[in-house]
Order: sequence, then C-alpha cells, then structure tokens
Amino acid sequence: MKRHQITIKQMQTTQLNEVMAIDAACYRVPWPKTVYEAELACISNRCYLVAYLQSQQPQSNNTLGTIVGHGGVSFEADAAHITTLTVAPQWRGHGVGIRLFLALAVAARKHKESLMLEVGADNPTAQSLYRRFGLAPVGIRRGYYAKMGLSDIGLSPDAVVMRADNIQEPDYASRLAKIALELEHT
Ligand SMILES: CC(C)(COP(=O)(O)OP(=O)(O)OC[C@H]1O[C@@H](n2cnc3c(N)ncnc32)[C@H](O)[C@@H]1OP(=O)(O)O)[C@@H](O)C(=O)NCCC(=O)NCCS
Repeated sequence: MKRHQITIKQMQTTQLNEVMAIDAACYRVPWPKTVYEAELACISNRCYLVAYLQSQQPQSNNTLGTIVGHGGVSFEADAAHITTLTVAPQWRGHGVGIRLFLALAVAARKHKESLMLEVGADNPTAQSLYRRFGLAPVGIRRGYYAKMGLSDIGLSPDAVVMRADNIQEPDYASRLAKIALELEHT
C-alpha cells in the first residue's frame, strides 16, 4: 500500500458533511447534524477531532487530504466520556482509529481523572483498541443500543462499559507515550 500520512485536527462545523458521510456508511441511525452542531458549540467541555489522510501525491484542491475518521470526548462530572469513534470502512486497519483515540486520551487526561465509554458487546475490534489504552470492562448496560433506537441493525443491543482510572498519573502518561512511539515506527 502507498504510504499515507495521518493528521489529526480539531473538527470544524464546515467539515460536518464529510464527517456525516462517514457516519452514513457506518451507522444505520447516524447522528443528525444538529447533534454535531450542539456538541461543537460546547467547546469548553468537549473535544471533537477528525483524521485526515494525505497520500504522498499532493491533492489538487485540498492540502490536508481526505477526512477518513473522527472521534469525540465529553468532559463530564465524573469522567471523560468518549462519545464517538468512527473510521471510514475502506480505511480501517491502517492506524487511523488508534491515532484518533490517542489524541482523545491526551485531551481527556488534561480535564479528568477517568476515561470511560460504552462499546458494543459484540465489537471485539473496538474493545481490543480500548484495552490497549488501559480501559477495562466495568459493567454491562443491557439494551443500551435498543434504547437508542439501534436494535434493528443486527448487533447486540447490549453495551460493555469500559473505564480507565487515574489517567492523570505519570503511569498513564507513559502508556500514551509508548503508544505514540510505537505509532511513529508504523
Ligand atoms: C473501531 C474502529 C474505530 C477502529 O479503527 P481502525 O482505524 O480500523 O483501527 P486501527 O487501524 O487504528 O487499529 C487499532 C487497533 O484496533 C484493532 N483492530 C483494528 N482492525 C482490526 C481488525 N480488522 N480485527 C481485529 N482487530 C482490529 C487492533 O487492536 C488494532 O491494534 P494493532 O495495531 O495492535 O493491530 C473502526 O473499526 C470503526 O470505525 N468501527 C466502526 C465504528 C465503531 O465500532 N466504533 C467504536 C464505537 S465504541
């Protein structure tokens, strides 16, 4: 495969059409634009990022290349809560998701002591990614996706709650630095 450079940037409202096109390819019930707009308006307690992929061949009309994934985190009372992490199907397995999650984890530890999320009980790919960042299962939310109107997509309706505590401690900084270093060599 041709080598591509992945760049992570803050999400802008002007990028929502590209972001939502990825969601449309991934989710039966994607977030409406109003949800993204509301999230992006809360800049003091949210962080939304996009991943650009730039091939060595310069793009003619977009110096940053194509948006291939995005993710978000909300800084809530007890923890930083990952709200979304999505990579376009054709770009999965190329290190986009891990780079997005690394940037979200870096943002999370600036604000909160803990990082948590819900993930599909039948989503081993995402669960394995989160384990790499020290998140461990702490519970099951039965019917979580069904309650969100997502029970008709053939996935498990249950979510696993995963959580990492003490993310402001030096040990967690070391974990993130190790992942960043590994990514530099891939
Ligand atoms: C989960 C998701 C974001 C991962 O993004 P990605 O760009 O494909 O992931 P990466 O290439 O960065 O790989 C990161 C890790 O994920 C795991 N992974 C990625 N692709 C995998 C695959 N096909 N099979 C198994 N594990 C896989 C691996 O642990 C990998 O780490 P490694 O470097 O040790 O192999 C992506 O699969 C996705 O968008 N899925 C649909 C939406 C979703 O489920 N989001 C999570 C909601 S909680």
